[in-house]
Amino acid sequence: MDNTPSDALVFFGATGDLAFKKIFPSLQAMARRGNLEMPVIGVAKESWTDEQIRARAKESIEKHSKIDPPAFEKLLSRLRYVGGDFSDPALFQSLRKALGGAKHPAHYLAIPPSFFGGVVEQLVKSGCAEGARVVVEKPFGHDMGSARELNGILHSAFEEDDVYRIDHYLGKKQVHTMLFFRFSNAFLEPIWNREHVESVQITMAEDFGVQGRGAFYDATGTVRDVIQNHLFQLMTNLAMEPPVRADSQSIRDEKAKVLKAIPPLAPADLLRGQFRGYLDEPGVKKGSKTETFAALRLEIDNWRWRGVPFHIRAGKNLPVTCTEVFVRLRHPPTMYKNVPLEPNHFRFRISPTIELGFGMNFIAVDSETKGVSAEIEGTGHQGTLDMDAYERVLTDAMCGDQTLFAREDYVEEAWRIVDPALAADTPVSGYEPHTWGPKDAARTTPPGGWHDPVIAKS
Ligand code: BG6
Repeated sequence: MDNTPSDALVFFGATGDLAFKKIFPSLQAMARRGNLEMPVIGVAKESWTDEQIRARAKESIEKHSKIDPPAFEKLLSRLRYVGGDFSDPALFQSLRKALGGAKHPAHYLAIPPSFFGGVVEQLVKSGCAEGARVVVEKPFGHDMGSARELNGILHSAFEEDDVYRIDHYLGKKQVHTMLFFRFSNAFLEPIWNREHVESVQITMAEDFGVQGRGAFYDATGTVRDVIQNHLFQLMTNLAMEPPVRADSQSIRDEKAKVLKAIPPLAPADLLRGQFRGYLDEPGVKKGSKTETFAALRLEIDNWRWRGVPFHIRAGKNLPVTCTEVFVRLRHPPTMYKNVPLEPNHFRFRISPTIELGFGMNFIAVDSETKGVSAEIEGTGHQGTLDMDAYERVLTDAMCGDQTLFAREDYVEEAWRIVDPALAADTPVSGYEPHTWGPKDAARTTPPGGWHDPVIAKS
């Protein structure tokens, strides 16, 4: 269906948690910006009325955003509800009726993947899949086999050009800022390779636990929840070759190539941890070995990066909430042999604020023999971010722009990398909440150690 704009938005899972936290606020924001000029139909199993879904939208926006009266009214005037069992053909006939004259609906499946097969089959049978595109939530599968199975299901009714796999990290302005920095500064390219870069670290720390999502989290774990998707997206943005054009296929080609060059993760290159107290969380299985922290070491075996370790770690209940990339350059072959010097670095903070830091060495003002390291910092941005990640990806999906969505080959490659280490069922070490995870094994520790993000107290 390519770039044809969608003329209706159907979202399955309208009564669920994701809709409550993210989708309704994003729909209001789309309405405010004039990007919601089509009917919006919420679908779920509850037998609700249009009034009930509108009340839910109000509650959601009051809790997670703020009512903007004109935009909210617009959203309400567009919003309808269709309820019923996902395996019941009658539900899809009602949906077809509610779609009216829409010829290019977008079906957004904000539901567990176990329902995809049945829903897609019914969309086809009812004629709702005709001329349509489909948008699906992460995690896309549980491993390579299940991802292939899901791809098979989606492709039974939709061309790849009409499949939009959400990774909301790609919708973050901060992630785009990092990409822009890489490909708009000439000074970076000559040093952005194995000759000059010693190691790359990516940390995604969260200072909270599983926040009532115990059952989901316990079946998922850190690697599947945020590393295989969000953090691999950051890594491929950092490591890819300059795309020949800025269109979605050229960019996604380069990202997929990075993953293709990464050998499967060895069990010894994965450290897993679990915060103490996790087993008491509602929804967590007795004696669960699911990780709430993971640190891993990868290599990108290509001309640019061979020999440069890429270290990625993420975890719940760590000391701060911050996502940061730290690129350490090789030590200078200095004549100041007796002066302890830090290698130069680039630091990209993705959240909670946007920051770009370049670490350099200076002579200390009060000494002839002491070096000090300091950063030149650039935020580049002032003020607040204009578009939330969910608003961005939903707007793009409605316009038929696939750049910020994961492609079939990319997702399968990402699973190929992590599958063997996850299947090895490696031990899980306990860690105290609000610490930096279990003590790191030498192989998963970056040369020179981890750079722990520091959040300035306001
Ligand atoms: C989600 C994960 O995809 O991303 C959560 O399921 C995680 O566990 C969240 O907390 C982080 O995203 P953000 O945008 O809140 O930083």
